[in-house]
Amino acid sequence: MDKKVTVIGAGNVGATAAQRLAEKELCDVVLIDIVEGIPQGKALDLTEAAPIEKHDSHLTGTSDYEASAGSDIVIITAGMPRKPGMSRDDLISTNAKIITNVTRQVVKMSPDTILIMVSNPLDAMCHVAYEASGFPKNRVLGMAGVLDSARFRAFISMELNVSVENIHAFVLGGHGDTMVPLPRYSTVAGIPITELMTPDRINALVQRTAAGGAEIVSLLRTGSAYYAPASAAVEMAESILKDKKKILPCAAYLEGEYGINDLFIGVPVKLGAGGIEEIIQIDLTDEEKTALQKSVKSIEELKEILKK
Ligand code: NAI
Ligand code: 2OP
Repeated sequence: MDKKVTVIGAGNVGATAAQRLAEKELCDVVLIDIVEGIPQGKALDLTEAAPIEKHDSHLTGTSDYEASAGSDIVIITAGMPRKPGMSRDDLISTNAKIITNVTRQVVKMSPDTILIMVSNPLDAMCHVAYEASGFPKNRVLGMAGVLDSARFRAFISMELNVSVENIHAFVLGGHGDTMVPLPRYSTVAGIPITELMTPDRINALVQRTAAGGAEIVSLLRTGSAYYAPASAAVEMAESILKDKKKILPCAAYLEGEYGINDLFIGVPVKLGAGGIEEIIQIDLTDEEKTALQKSVKSIEELKEILKK
């Protein structure tokens, strides 16, 4: 393949993203993890599936960043889950150290790459990677809105018994409880859902979307979601690799857009070969602006923890 994507972290999200990239024949894939054997084993297993899945993407598993040299995109999923007794602040500082270290190694090998961040807490980890990379803001972005809006779309489809393909949904803000699903901009075959559902039902779906990550954790018990997160990261990668210029909700560094400064937060962006090629600004109602401000505040709190 003429394109190369490196996935850092060969855990649930990373390995599934590697599988989807390869099976869509978008690129060659390098899978890197700090635990020796895991990336090698998973890459070999995926390679052995290739004749059946009928793709010619090459997969390499390694703990050595040399193999990542010249990547078009690097998807960063490395991180620790929260352990019993660990505070949110502990988790943020542990993952910030991991992301700083990983980003520096990535940048050495691929100075022109585009970073797609996945590790949590997402918006804060985008900041860490932005600072550690020294990259321009168009080459650092975070995956959350594509996942959150896919969840919203799935719930709308289940509610109205219509094809997921007819549904567009928009979610702004940070990844977490304060995300801002926008029913006005969410449509079924072009019809806003506000004309198809009662406010109570819309509110129920909005609440379920905001708690979407926690719902999966409570079912799995031993980890968090990975099929939909991997699909979301790969949709972003595909738009960049093929210069499709899709408009997708991504965490982007804002400098005045939406009245927000010096912060990564989810907004609609145009994704093409240059990474974030444009930040799309849409009009918000006062209620939506208030909800977005709440989200801004919660991300600013995370940024403060990073300074400690
Ligand atoms: P996981 O625990 O299955 O995988 C994480 C992997 O990172 C492990 O294999 C671990 O060995 C590796 N790792 C740890 N430190 C490393 C280092 N220094 N260098 C290279 N690899 C390292 O976790 P999972 O389920 O894959 O999730 C990964 C991250 O993505 C988590 O932080 C999770 O919270 C986040 N996530 C974010 C989502 C989003 O919407 N932004 C959605 C789903 C997950
Ligand atoms: C999710 O939303 C854990 O951030 C992850 O599923």
